[in-house]
Amino acid sequence: DWTPQSFVQETVDSLKEQLGNDKVVLGLSGGVDSSVAAMLLHKAIGKNLYCIFVNNGLLRKNEFEDVLHQYEGMGLNVKGVDASARFLDALAGLSDPELKRKAIGRVFIEVFDDEAHLIQDVKWLAQGTIYPDVIESVSATGGPSATIKSHHNVGGLPDFMKLKVVEPLKALFKDEVRRVGASMNMDKQLLGRHPFPGPGLAIRILGDLTAEKVRILQEVDAIFINNLRSWNLYDKVWQAGAMLLPVNSVGVMGDERTYEKCVALRAVESTDGMTADWVNLPYEFLQKTSNEIINKVKGVNRVVYDISSKPPATIEWE
Ligand code: XMP
Repeated sequence: DWTPQSFVQETVDSLKEQLGNDKVVLGLSGGVDSSVAAMLLHKAIGKNLYCIFVNNGLLRKNEFEDVLHQYEGMGLNVKGVDASARFLDALAGLSDPELKRKAIGRVFIEVFDDEAHLIQDVKWLAQGTIYPDVIESVSATGGPSATIKSHHNVGGLPDFMKLKVVEPLKALFKDEVRRVGASMNMDKQLLGRHPFPGPGLAIRILGDLTAEKVRILQEVDAIFINNLRSWNLYDKVWQAGAMLLPVNSVGVMGDERTYEKCVALRAVESTDGMTADWVNLPYEFLQKTSNEIINKVKGVNRVVYDISSKPPATIEWE
């Protein structure tokens, strides 16, 4: 009988045997899969697991600091690398969604490769791949590992891609990953996090990016997500976020005319992201959230709610 406890026990034993005294590098994303994979490896090989958590500057507000701190609290041997400026530079002037994804994938690989080179004699690359990633092998989704897969054919393999690969979650579904994490006493909030795309806020800022647009969207998104939490709606929603639209519209503020940005809020129910329904959030919640965004976030004067389902509308707007 499969139980999370027996899975942890057996996996830790077999990782010990497989890895011996070898060093392993793993890219943490802040998401459930890479975090649970890291915890299992940490139990098996302790300090020989070298975790790298890259800040691409496209994460949610305060996410890099908060999650890095949480990882340290879990005893993980983790290095946070703030590469925000490098990503923003690479994105400057790009507005096509696929070009933005490619630039982010490329810089991620460069940064990760540089960091992996700093670890002497590393032998293995660990990944948080889960079963649905394996079956959907050519997929746009799935965090750093997918980013690596879709870009490694550009100009030869980076060195870390030549490492042997270890994927302790390869046979599990998402709900099993969460149960495994819970049985290792991992934080409930970490295990319950919504999926978040590898390219982050870059594909929620329609068109070209600037540091100012990232900041505006981080503020808007933080209000939306915090309100979902305080209204006990967060766990009822599969994924939620805000999009910064490339349109300005007219508004009034006191007796001034404004001409400012519009944001769209999106919350969906889904099981695997392949299809999704928009969530019927309470009007009162939407009203409070909209008012709070417009009052607090300078540069935004209009909020809309996305009531499109997938298909045909995708979850992300880019
Ligand atoms: P769409 O927008 O295709 O999204 O309906 C389905 C799920 O995939 C996520 N997504 C991505 N994840 N890299 C990722 O790691 C990407 O380029 C990417 N594009 C979409 C999206 O957040 C949703 O969970």
